[in-house]
Amino acid sequence: MRARVVGTGSYVPRSVITNSDLEQTVNTSDQWITERTGIRSRYIASPGEGSSALGAKAATIALATARLDPADLDLIIVATCTPDMPFPSTACLIQSILGAKAAVAFDVSAACSGFLFALSIADHYIRLETYRNVLVVGTEVMSSVTDWTDRATCIIFGDGAGAAVLQGIKGENGILSNHLHSNGQRWDLIYVPGGGSQQPLSETVLNERLNFIKMRGSTTFKLAVKMMEEAAREALAANNLTIDDIDLFIPHQANARIIKATAERLHVPMERVVMNIGQYGNTSAASVPLALDEMVRENRIKSGTHVLLIAFGSGLTWASTLIRW
Ligand code: UT7
Repeated sequence: MRARVVGTGSYVPRSVITNSDLEQTVNTSDQWITERTGIRSRYIASPGEGSSALGAKAATIALATARLDPADLDLIIVATCTPDMPFPSTACLIQSILGAKAAVAFDVSAACSGFLFALSIADHYIRLETYRNVLVVGTEVMSSVTDWTDRATCIIFGDGAGAAVLQGIKGENGILSNHLHSNGQRWDLIYVPGGGSQQPLSETVLNERLNFIKMRGSTTFKLAVKMMEEAAREALAANNLTIDDIDLFIPHQANARIIKATAERLHVPMERVVMNIGQYGNTSAASVPLALDEMVRENRIKSGTHVLLIAFGSGLTWASTLIRW
C-alpha cells in the first residue's frame, strides 16, 4: 500500500503587497529586496481571514481534483505555525468548514517544514491501512506575526495555503520516503517570543513587539543551504537514486538565493527546480504545497514523475519527501 497524491489545490488571499508598497513604510528598496531575496510581491489575508479560511479553500480545490467528497475523508492533518486560535486546532476548524464529519483532525507544528512532517504522518497511517483518504494542508497567515516596522523580516513573509489529498492505493507509485530532522538547540534562530504560555499577551509583550517574528537571517541562511542539500542527498541515498533520476525539485521557498545555492551544491539545473517565491514570498508551511499544486496545474508532473520535496524551518526542522507520481 502506498500513499498516492490524488488531488492538489492552493489558495492565496486577494490583497497584494509589492516591494514598492514596502518602500513607503520601511527603509528599504525594491532593488535590495529583489537582489537579496528574489521576492517581488506577497499576498496578505484580510482582517478576520485566518489560516482555516485559506486552508479550507485550498482543500476544497484539492478534494474536487481528487473527485472526493469531504465525507470521504478519514483524516485531516494541518501544518501551520499561525493557527486561528491556540485551540481548537486549525484542522478541526477546517473539518467544520468542509463538513468532513467522519474525519479525525489535528495540527502539526514544524514551521516551514510542517507540510512535509504532516505528509510523513499521513504516509504512515496509510501504509498501516489505518486510514485511506487523508487531507494534508499547509496554511499560514504569516502577516499576523509579521512586524511591519522591521525591514529585515517584513519583506520576506506572505500568506497562503496549499493542500493535497492522499489515498492508499496498491502499486509502485506514491510516497517513496520521508526523512524528518529537528535540532531544538537552534530554536532561537527564528521564533515568536510572546503571546504563548511562557509570555502571554500583555502590555509589555505588545510594547516590546514580542508577538512578532524574530530572526537571525544570515545564520539561518547558511544553515538552510546545508540542511536542504543534506536532506536531498539523504532521500536519494535511501532510494538508490541519483540527482539525474529526479525530474522536479520542490524546495521550501524561503529565499531565491538559498534555492539557487542549494541547486548549485547538488548540481541540479534550475530548469528542474521550482521557484515561485517572486510572486508569493515565504509562506512557511504553505510554500511547498503551493508550488506542488502549481506544477500539477502546469502539467509538469505526470504519472511516474519523480518529485523531491525539501524543506527547512524554525525549530530548527528540516525534511524531505520523495514521491513517484
Ligand atoms: O523560512 C525560513 C525562515 N527564514 C529564512 O530562511 C531567512 C534566511 N535568511 C535570509 O533570507 C537573508 O538572511 C535575509 C533576506 C533575511 C537578509 O539578507 P542578508 O543578505 O543575509 O542581509 P543581512 O541580514 O546580512 O543584512 C545586510 C544589510 C544590513 O545592513 P548593514 O548592517 O550591513 O548596514 C541590514 O541592516 O542589509 C540591511 N537590511 C536591509 N536593507 C534594505 C536588512 N533588511 C533590509 C531591507 N532593505 N529590507
